[in-house]
Amino acid sequence: MLAATAGTSDQEVVFSEDDIIVSKTDLKGKIIYANDTFCDVSGYSVDELIGKPHNIIRHPDMPRCIFKFMWDTLGCGEEIFAYVKNSCRDGRFYWVLAYVTPSLDINGKVCGYHSSRRSPNRRVLPKLEEIYAALRKTEQQASTPKEGMEQAGKQFEQMLADQKMTYNQFLFSLEQM
Ligand SMILES: Cc1cc2nc3c(=O)[nH]c(=O)nc-3n(C[C@H](O)[C@H](O)[C@H](O)COP(=O)(O)O)c2cc1C
Repeated sequence: MLAATAGTSDQEVVFSEDDIIVSKTDLKGKIIYANDTFCDVSGYSVDELIGKPHNIIRHPDMPRCIFKFMWDTLGCGEEIFAYVKNSCRDGRFYWVLAYVTPSLDINGKVCGYHSSRRSPNRRVLPKLEEIYAALRKTEQQASTPKEGMEQAGKQFEQMLADQKMTYNQFLFSLEQM
């Protein structure tokens, strides 16, 4: 299933188009379920994942503003697609296209979140890496992480406005490249 071998930070783990990486979290993003594919790709055992915050697999190249946008969207009760670069236990990385949704209890109240991830379209990645790197640069140059996240968030909004696109149209446009 996996197409990479040894483990350094510049090595990517590529997983099959047929695989779906699944996790569920509580309201705070603590992992309450991880499927076997999640464990296989990330290199963590299920025991190492359950009860941990989802940022256990956070990759430093990921802009904070993208996660803020994700949490804000989920906070409005909406679903979101996002390209995410994750870290493996051994330092390698893997890209996913995540579909994250709120989970509802029997009264229709949000009780947690669910993420299903597929292998991304490889053609999307160079452009996406370029955009994420620009956002990360803005975040790193700011005087505080909070300010950086806000500035990068505005930069991202401006980029979408310049291209007259919503976030979903932007994702779709990447797929057309
Ligand atoms: C259902 C769900 C799935 C998530 N999946 C990931 C993920 O695959 N990788 C990741 O870095 N963060 C993921 N997050 C977001 C993390 O909770 C966290 O916001 C992010 O890693 C940024 O962490 P930080 O605020 O400590 O920088 C997920 C959150 C939820 C609710």
